[in-house]
Amino acid sequence: MRYYIEGNEVRAENTAKPYTQKSSAVNDYLKIIVDDPSVLDFGCGKLRYSDTLVKISSRVTFVDSEVQLNRTQAVRGELTSVKKYVEDNYDGCCSIAYENLAKHDEKYKLIICTNVLSAIPCKNTLDDIVVHMHRLLMQNGRVIIVNQYRSSYFKKYESGVKWLYGYLHRGLRGVTYYGVVDKIQVEALLGKYNFVKIRSWYVGESLFTEARVALV
Ligand SMILES: C[S@@+](CC[C@H](N)C(=O)[O-])C[C@H]1O[C@@H](n2cnc3c(N)ncnc32)[C@H](O)[C@@H]1O
Repeated sequence: MRYYIEGNEVRAENTAKPYTQKSSAVNDYLKIIVDDPSVLDFGCGKLRYSDTLVKISSRVTFVDSEVQLNRTQAVRGELTSVKKYVEDNYDGCCSIAYENLAKHDEKYKLIICTNVLSAIPCKNTLDDIVVHMHRLLMQNGRVIIVNQYRSSYFKKYESGVKWLYGYLHRGLRGVTYYGVVDKIQVEALLGKYNFVKIRSWYVGESLFTEARVALV
């Protein structure tokens, strides 16, 4: 997704890491889910966790921006697109662009969102993502948000311009944004759209927050 901030283009799709750089904490969390839930991976990037997700679920929907899903790039060791990789390798699964998500209305038992909040320099988009999650989650489902609540890597960004939850930084590949969203901010964002926290915990520099839809 491209964001336009004060005359700069921020290419959020470039923040996605390859499958060779999985977080073992995230992967371990996903691996022990046993009840074959339907899963939506919000901001799936380059399918870093797709192999684990398709083992725990026969129906996984991968959501990212149009540009991230359709551009040709290295995806799990193949030169292809995320969309095509999903079509070719994962029966019963699909990919949907964020730009078309409003037309999608299937419900999911589990929505995962790993390291996405830190990559989005736009408050309205963050709000919109939480609204979609609320709309697409089953009443007895849960979302799991994983984000960095502090980062040693963040020091580099602090020389940039303060923006939203972090900084805009001008580097060799243009302007990038990196936000560090803490526990209070994640819970405030979820609470604003009628989510209730189930639990949260830290592993290394990552914050895990599980939440469900508030009962009315
Ligand atoms: C740091 S990457 C994380 C990717 C993946 N979740 C992972 O853990 O490897 C952030 C991802 O958020 C995606 N993204 C940015 N804005 C988005 C939006 N509005 N809707 C869906 N995905 C978005 C970017 O394209 C990028 O793939």
